[in-house]
Amino acid sequence: MTDSDFQPFAGASALIFGGGQNIGRAIALEWARRGAKVAIADLNAEGAAVTAEEIRAAGGEAIGTGADVTSDDSVAAAVAAAEAAFGPLDILMNNAGILSGGNPQDIPVSAWQQMLDVNLLGQVRAINLVLPGMLERGRGHIANTASFAGMYPFACSRVHYAASKAAVLSYSENLALYCLPYGVRVSCLCPGPVMTTSVHGMKHFSESYEMRMPGDHLTLKSQEETAIVLSDGMRDGRIVIPTDELVWPTMRELAAGPDAFIAKKAAEFAAGNSGRPMVPAQFLKPA
Ligand SMILES: NC(=O)c1ccc[n+]([C@@H]2O[C@H](COP(=O)([O-])OP(=O)(O)OC[C@H]3O[C@@H](n4cnc5c(N)ncnc54)[C@H](O)[C@@H]3O)[C@@H](O)[C@H]2O)c1
Repeated sequence: MTDSDFQPFAGASALIFGGGQNIGRAIALEWARRGAKVAIADLNAEGAAVTAEEIRAAGGEAIGTGADVTSDDSVAAAVAAAEAAFGPLDILMNNAGILSGGNPQDIPVSAWQQMLDVNLLGQVRAINLVLPGMLERGRGHIANTASFAGMYPFACSRVHYAASKAAVLSYSENLALYCLPYGVRVSCLCPGPVMTTSVHGMKHFSESYEMRMPGDHLTLKSQEETAIVLSDGMRDGRIVIPTDELVWPTMRELAAGPDAFIAKKAAEFAAGNSGRPMVPAQFLKPA
């Protein structure tokens, strides 16, 4: 068996918060395809149930439950349900996230609090519950979803979101540093632009503002590609897993000179380039 044949998913007990739709759903389906038993927990309880049903219909093992990652009790109930169904967790994924936008001065503290409560503290709630068991067993894998918005500055149209994702990235990297000697792996999925419905119904705090995107050199990815990149990365023991390797030259440019990087980005925005990614033909609606 070569390293790339190693499959952490076969027979594993997995729980995905935020697996009821879009990227999380695609990850649940991909892990089930690789042999994991998957518990799906989501505020969208119906989506969680439907995703679980899809997995069972394809011959896999899955349960779907409603859960709110802002509630300690709800997170604990979802972990208990997953472990009752499939045994101690081998894999925990924290993918639940929210998105809203506006100019920085229009985003109220209450929106910051909600953003951090879901995107960051939702992950902390689940990890604090699950990590002790993984450390004791000397194995396990935690995966947290961040974003390109937490890696380099472009998302000035949603600073609270970007800050929450930067916090997720830092949390995940330091958690990996702590857990590695115990045999517990940590990965951080960093999606660039992915084709989902997450902007539908998004709350806007400013009457008018420009949506800023990560760069016109990037291409919109599918949910399925994202799930495969994450799963292969976890299999290979990667910690920071971007959906597009083109992020690394950008990160090097930022590290070489943050002030110049931000000045260049501001000039691009001023020239009318809002960083919108290329949209492959597969996503274009027929006219
Ligand atoms: N789509 C993109 O381009 C993109 C880019 C970067 C990062 N991301 C991140 O990827 C993840 C998935 O995003 P998506 O695009 O599939 O959007 P999405 O909105 O469909 O996914 C978020 C999921 O989290 C769930 N959720 C929200 N609040 C919750 C709560 N309080 N408790 C439990 N579940 C809750 C939603 O019901 C949904 O299933 C998010 O963390 C998002 O920030 C997405």
